[in-house]
Amino acid sequence: MTKKYQLFIDGKWVDSVSGKVFESLNPATGEVNAIVAEAGVEDVDLAVKAARKAFESGPWAEMAPGDRGRLLYKVAQALWEKADMLAEIETMDNGLPINETKFIAMPAMIDVLEFYAGLANKIEGKVLASPSNRLNYTLKEPVGVVGAIVPWNFPLMLTMWKLAPALAAGNTIVIKPAEQTPVSVLEMVKIFQEVGIPDGVINVVPGFGNVAGAALSSHPDVDKIAFTGSTTTGRLIMQAASKNIKPISLELGGKSPNIIFDDANIENAVKGSLFGIFFAQGQVCAAGSRLFVQESIYDKFMEAFVKKAQSIRVGNPLDQSTQMGPQVSLQQLERIQQYVTAGLEEGANLVIGGERNHKAGNGYFFTPTIFENVTNEMKIAREEIFGPVLSVIRFVDEEDALAKANDTLYGLASGLWTSDLKRAHRMARGLKAGTVYVNTFSMLDSAAPFGGTKQSGFGRELGVQALDMYTETKHVWVDLSDEGLNWYGI
Ligand code: NAI
Ligand code: MG
Repeated sequence: MTKKYQLFIDGKWVDSVSGKVFESLNPATGEVNAIVAEAGVEDVDLAVKAARKAFESGPWAEMAPGDRGRLLYKVAQALWEKADMLAEIETMDNGLPINETKFIAMPAMIDVLEFYAGLANKIEGKVLASPSNRLNYTLKEPVGVVGAIVPWNFPLMLTMWKLAPALAAGNTIVIKPAEQTPVSVLEMVKIFQEVGIPDGVINVVPGFGNVAGAALSSHPDVDKIAFTGSTTTGRLIMQAASKNIKPISLELGGKSPNIIFDDANIENAVKGSLFGIFFAQGQVCAAGSRLFVQESIYDKFMEAFVKKAQSIRVGNPLDQSTQMGPQVSLQQLERIQQYVTAGLEEGANLVIGGERNHKAGNGYFFTPTIFENVTNEMKIAREEIFGPVLSVIRFVDEEDALAKANDTLYGLASGLWTSDLKRAHRMARGLKAGTVYVNTFSMLDSAAPFGGTKQSGFGRELGVQALDMYTETKHVWVDLSDEGLNWYGI
């Protein structure tokens, strides 16, 4: 029987005001995975009202920071117990191989919650330098009602990047999951509720971007929007947020360079670069989708790389041995196919892949794809494809590599492989991106800030730094003098 899900507003599971529902598909089969209530403008408004009430007057607002942290830690423990179940649900909803949900996405997601649970009672203001007849200090206060708009590539993890710091700082939240993948977030929120997060603190309004997402980002009573998704939608969110001057953070796409120097450990570089592009079917904002290989080792590197790429096992994502599952939707599959056509038209050389993989199943499977003889001017080198498609570009020396790597509208991540310590740090300074990986790629750590420059967005998620996005700094000025403020002398 197909599972049914409702909206989660004010601690209750409710139908949408319109009674509308939508289907969430299993991308491995194309069949319906769940029927989900579809939030409209009114539902988003009800969720924001519930979050407001919980923020201003509920038990959450009164709770000591240490208690809040302890409660979040209890949720994390409950999530560990249900991690395998959540991994399976997420795999069914978005097609990530079970090995990647189970051993990467779930542990990383719970680690984020534990990290911020521990920080809940370490959010501190300062006593400022001031003369003895006054006292100046700052308070770090929650911003209020946070709106989180989340994409489909890592639904739970990218929700948690926003949810955990928002709650640790004492905010309440309304989450709009992606229409392709609402199920795992709804299942996770059940666990928060069971552990005892008060009503209204977390609300979830699954639905479509142009309705529920737009309603949330333009809502006058939402104090901050945290968004991960496309640059196009990021622009719309900036416009919507301008209505009430809402602060926003945008973690958008990328076209991240991954540079292989001739002094690199070739075997490690081959393996790490495979992960850099093919992990999660290439649906990774930081994916190393432009591979720069130094001319002097080009043939040697590419021979090993292509051979390994061909051996990646594409198939049923619930199968433990699968290394690449389906793309999330037919729409994404078709976008990828269009980019392959564009690459061929612009004269790039298709080395492997480039087509839908029917052998792997009826779902939206694609074959690992590598283009050679790509130039930085081609569409496949400039635009985010968000699929298992790699553009390989040659370079001559360090200067050439840096110029080509930085020649992009994006600036999310970058990577380089070298055994030269000085070169590694020179490049780390030179690359224009939020993250530089040296001799690795696409790694994450809850303690390490993550985010972009240029059109990859702004704001940093994760790390202690992310708390700045979920707190306001209030300055308190206390006059301790006897004479007081008497400018007019009257
Ligand atoms: P999208 O940016 O449209 O969707 C992400 C989220 O934004 C979803 O929850 C969606 O419902 C919501 N949304 C859409 N329109 C909105 C609006 N007008 N106002 C408020 N919220 C809105 O991305 P989409 O269409 O699913 O994928 C298209 C491309 O975007 C991908 O091929 C990829 O290049 C990029 N993308 C990047 C991601 C990242 O991790 N940086 C994640 C997902 C997509
Ligand atoms: Mg789905």
